[in-house]
Amino acid sequence: MTTDKMTRIDVDIPGAAYPVYCGRDILQNFGAVLSGHKNYRQVAVVTHPSLRRLCGERLLETLPVEQKFILEVPEGEGSKSHETLMQLYTGLLEARFERGALIIALGGGVIGDLAGFAAATYLRGVDLVQCPTTLLAQVDSSIGGKTGINHPLGKNLIGAFKQPLFVFSDTALLATLPAGEIRCGLGEVIKYAFIGDEKLLTYLEENVERALAGDPAVLEYLVVLSARQKAAVVEKDEKESGLRMILNFGHTFGHALEAEFAYSGLKHGETVILGMKCALRYAAALGRLDEAGLRRGMALLERIPVAYDRSKIDPARLWRRMRIDKKVKDGAVRLILVDRPGHWFVEEARREEVETAFAVLR
Ligand SMILES: NC(=O)c1ccc[n+]([C@@H]2O[C@H](COP(=O)([O-])OP(=O)(O)OC[C@H]3O[C@@H](n4cnc5c(N)ncnc54)[C@H](O)[C@@H]3O)[C@@H](O)[C@H]2O)c1
Ligand SMILES: [Zn+2]
Repeated sequence: MTTDKMTRIDVDIPGAAYPVYCGRDILQNFGAVLSGHKNYRQVAVVTHPSLRRLCGERLLETLPVEQKFILEVPEGEGSKSHETLMQLYTGLLEARFERGALIIALGGGVIGDLAGFAAATYLRGVDLVQCPTTLLAQVDSSIGGKTGINHPLGKNLIGAFKQPLFVFSDTALLATLPAGEIRCGLGEVIKYAFIGDEKLLTYLEENVERALAGDPAVLEYLVVLSARQKAAVVEKDEKESGLRMILNFGHTFGHALEAEFAYSGLKHGETVILGMKCALRYAAALGRLDEAGLRRGMALLERIPVAYDRSKIDPARLWRRMRIDKKVKDGAVRLILVDRPGHWFVEEARREEVETAFAVLR
C-alpha cells in the first residue's frame, strides 16, 4: 500500500529487492504497509526509551499482530556492543520469538545496526524492517543492508549483510531531532550531491539554512533525493566490492579527523563535512577541479557550522592516521574525488597533497 503522501524508491538488489517508503506523517500507515508485504504472528520493535514514547507505542498500535512488544536499549554508540546484543537475544528468547518472526529497528544508525545484526543472527535469521528516525539513518544507514556491532578494538568490526523487507522513513519524526544530528545527516546529503546529483547540489545551495532549521518540507525532499542516490549505488554493488566506495567521498579524510578529534566530541557527519573540504582542495591541487568548482563547493560547506579547534589540525599526524584506517588496501590509500558535481574519480593518496589538503582546515 502507498498513499499520495508516500514516495516509493526501489532498491533493486538481485534476489533481495526491497522498497524504501519516504513521506511526512506516514507512521499511522505502517501496519497497512506491513500487511501489504507479509503477515506476521510475532513482531519485536527495538528502540530507545525516549523513542518508545515519541513514536514506538504509536507504531506498535498500527500492527495487526498477535504478539507484539518493544525491546528497549540505551541510547549511544555504546549500545552497539556484544553485551547489548546478548540482552536483545535474551529478550527475544524469553518471549519465545520464533523463526518467521519480524524485528523492526526503530531509531538512528545505532538501533539500525544493532537490531539489524540481531535479525541477521537470531535463530540464523529472522525478518527485518528498518524504520529510521534520524536524518543520517534515513538518508544513509538504513539502506544497503550493512549491520553490525563494535569490538573493543574497533568500530563496526563484527557484522553481516542483512537486507530488510522494506525501509520506512517518516520524515515528520525528524521534528524532534537535535540540531547537531541534523547537521550530521546533512553531511551525508551533501556527499550525495557532490558524487551524484547536480540538482540536489543546487537545491542545497538554495535551502541549506532551512534544512539546518529543520524545515519539514526541505527535509522530506532531501531524504527522498538522498535515498534515491544511496539506493542507486547499493543496487549496483550489494556487497561493497566496487562502486560503493564512492560513498566514501569525504570519509577518508573524515575518518582521520574522527580518530583525531574523538574525545572532543566531533561527530561523524561533522568530520565528513570537514573531510569534503579537504577532498575538494585535493582535487583542485591536482588541477582536476577548477577554481569556480572549488569556490562553489567550499561556499556550501562553510554554511554548515562545525566547531573545532583549528590549532589542533596537524597535517602530518592526520596523514599517519589516514594510513592506518581499516579501508587501506595493499598499503595504498584510495581517495574518492570529484571534478564536477556527479563526476567522481579515484586517486591514490600522496602524502604531500594530503597534508596540503588537511591544511585548509587550519
Ligand atoms: N549501516 C550503515 O551503512 C551505516 C552507515 C552510516 C553510519 N552507520 C552507523 O550509524 C550510527 C550513527 O547513527 P546516528 O547518527 O543515527 O546516531 P544514533 O543512532 O546514535 O542517534 C543519534 C541520537 O538521536 C536520538 N534520536 C533518534 N531519533 C530521534 C528523533 N526522531 N528525535 C529525537 N532524537 C532522536 C537517538 O536517541 C540518539 O541519541 C553509527 O554507529 C554508525 O556506525 C551505519
Ligand atoms: Zn558517513
